[in-house]
Formats: sequence, C-alpha cells, structure tokens
Amino acid sequence: MIELQGLTKRYGDKTAVDHLTFTVRPGVVTGFLGPNGAGKSTTMRMLLGLDNPTSGDVRIDGKHYAQLSEPLKYIGALLDAKAIHGGRTAYNHLLCMAQSNRIPRHRVDEVLETVGLSAVAKKRSKGFSLGMGQRLGIAGALLGDPEILMFDEPVNGLDPEGIHWIRNLMKGLAAQGRTVFVSSHLMSEMALTADHLIVIGRGRLMADTSMSDFIEKNSRSFVRLRTPQQERFKDVMSRAGHTVVETGDGAFEIADSDAAALGELAAQHQLVLHELSPQRASLEEAFMQLTAESVEYHAGGQMGSAPAGGPGAPVPAGMGAPGAPAAPSPYGASPYGPSPYTPGQGAPQGQPGWQGQGAQGWPQQPGQGGQAGAPPAPPAPPAGQEWGAQWRDNSKKKGR
Ligand SMILES: Nc1ncnc2c1ncn2[C@@H]1O[C@H](COP(=O)(O)OP(=O)(O)OP(=O)(O)O)[C@@H](O)[C@H]1O
Ligand SMILES: [Mg+2]
Repeated sequence: MIELQGLTKRYGDKTAVDHLTFTVRPGVVTGFLGPNGAGKSTTMRMLLGLDNPTSGDVRIDGKHYAQLSEPLKYIGALLDAKAIHGGRTAYNHLLCMAQSNRIPRHRVDEVLETVGLSAVAKKRSKGFSLGMGQRLGIAGALLGDPEILMFDEPVNGLDPEGIHWIRNLMKGLAAQGRTVFVSSHLMSEMALTADHLIVIGRGRLMADTSMSDFIEKNSRSFVRLRTPQQERFKDVMSRAGHTVVETGDGAFEIADSDAAALGELAAQHQLVLHELSPQRASLEEAFMQLTAESVEYHAGGQMGSAPAGGPGAPVPAGMGAPGAPAAPSPYGASPYGPSPYTPGQGAPQGQPGWQGQGAQGWPQQPGQGGQAGAPPAPPAPPAGQEWGAQWRDNSKKKGR
C-alpha cells in the first residue's frame, strides 16, 4: 500500500505537487492521470526518495523508502527507461541491481525471459530501442518480486504486442494481490487496464475514484439511433420532449434517456429503427472534461487537432449535414481549440491559423498546409539562396 498525506513539492515559486492525500491499495491497478506537468512524475520521485517533499509525507507499507533495507523487494519502479548505464549489458545492469538487494542471480534470467529480452541479454543497453529500454526497465521493477509496482508511462515506445503484454502483466500482478500504480496518457489503454483512478491537475487532486464512477460522473450518457424515417422520427421524439441531436453521419443521439423507452416509443409510431444503442462517453472524453481547466501546456498550432468534442461529436439537429464542420463540443471548450479543418479533408491551405508560425516554429509559406498531424515542411529558402549557404555564412560569423 502507498499512502500520501498532504504531499507537497515546490521548485522555487512553482508548486509541482500541492497537498496530495490519497492511498493506492493492493489488488487493483490504479491509474495515475493528469495533463503534462500535472506533477505525476514528481509525486513518483518523492515516493522513491529521489526528491524530498517540501511538506507532507509519503509511505510505502507504513515506511519511508529510505527505511527499506532491500527496497527492490518491497517496491519495483520504472520511472525513466533511459536512466541506465548504457555501457552495461542488459544482464549486467540487472545483476548489479540484484546484488545490491541480495536478490539471487537466477531472478535476472527469469525477468529477462518475462520481458522477452533473453536474446539480447549480453548486448549493451545503449544500443537498445525505446521499447527495448522500457522492457529492461520493467524487468528491473520485477526483479525483487515486490508487492508494490510503480510505472511511469510504461507503454511509451512499446509495440502493439508489448502494449498487450504489459496490460496483461499489470492486471495479473494486481490479481495476485499486489499494488500496481501506473501513469499514462494513453486513455484507451488506461480504460482497459485500470480499475481505480487518481487524477491530478496542476499538482492538486481532482479525482480518486473507480473507473466506472469516474466516467459516469464526468461524462454524459446518450442513446444512438438510426432510422430511414428521419423527419417523422425527429417529430415524434421532439413531441415526446426529447432533444434530438444529429451526429452528422446519418444517426441521432438523445441524451440521458432510456434505450428501451425510446425503442417502445418508436414502435408505437411504427418507426423503423436500424440502430438503437445506449452509449457512454469514453475515458478520454471524461478526462478532458474534468481536466480542461488545468491543462497548462496548450499546443500553439491547430495541426492534427481533432474536431472539438472528438470524432463523432454530435451536431444539434438542423445545424449540420454530413461533412459540415463539427458543432461546438457538448463538453465545453476543447483544450486544443477548434479544428480549422473538416474531418477527412486534410488541412486547409492559406487559412488564418495556418499562416505565421508552424508547429516547429517554421514560418509557414502559403500553399504549405501539409497534412493534418504532420509537422509542416521547412520553408522554401529565400529567393536566390539555399539554406546550406546561409548556414555557412552564419557559421563564419560565429567562427565555426
Ligand atoms: N527538478 C525540477 N526543477 C524545477 N521544476 C521541476 C522539476 N521537476 C519538475 N518540475 C516542474 O514540476 C511540474 C510537474 O512536473 P512533472 O514532471 O511531475 O509532471 P508530469 O505530470 O509527470 O508531466 P508529464 O505528463 O509531462 O510527464 C512541471 O511544471 C515541471 O516543470
Ligand atoms: Mg511525467
């Protein structure tokens, strides 16, 4: 069990972690969520004694990390996959860790096998890819067979097989009664893995709740319907007091209603239904709804941003047809701002918002809209010049 009590960390005038109080319990996977800079890694570092709290307390099974004599046997952690001695082989890296905690040598072979790195055990880790480094970090966390495991964004860089594997690993460890605390920005993955959620924003606790309660409290439920008799359907539903929202793909959504009751109402009026499905918003939508106010770092450009409200954002009836720009998000302002383009059409060219500075700080040239989600192409060199010549000029000035 991990217990935080009023845990606070300030760096100068920046409060990275602000009076956090919560408990991470055994037997479940607890997801640790928050926008960039929310304080997740800082919290995890304080847990391992890598940073000292400004005030408050954090304990592992009732003790401070420094009080654990062979800590790898109590808590295994992956905070930064690159924080290893690149000149050591994977095997030797793990062997050093094992020897420092009186863990038998055979565990090194076992965990290398578990994470799928046996074949490269004798290779130096500096040549490892990001995903291989993550696997080695996970092997280190498992080495002491600890009751508590903590992972900071463990799926970064893992391939689909690796993501599937770590999901099952974390669920399996929790099912054995261990405490599993994991941060991630991959909401779809968290939705499949975590049972409980701790959400923070700007260092403060925003939610400490089960996954299902979190989604229920922070998102809307609605019923999705599809009918070939669209006009009569809208008429019948409106008369019954329902607000019908067009999704833009030929379907309708009716919020906060019962699918069975809507189906019966349609049957009474002999309306044919091709679809009748109760829906609940995703963890991603619920997370964005809750944390919209506490997002500190907004992307400057609009490139690659999804239509407000995400794919399939409903369009109030009469406000749009398929292919029309999405309506305002039902969840309030998107932290990524409105989309400047129509889904599926790529980025517009020469529109306001696409000129000026691109995502990489390159001045955008007219006609260089590029693809949604892709970084802009570098600008064309000024007429009569090529960039190499300009660089050579500048290097001469700097005495290179
Ligand atoms: N050593 C440090 N010195 C100064 N400021 C720091 C230090 N470490 C973290 N911070 C600041 O503390 C805040 C929280 O950072 P932290 O890395 O904990 O966030 P995070 O939730 O892990 O973010 P991300 O999702 O991007 O990993 C940030 O504003 C960061 O700049
Ligand atoms: Mg972090």
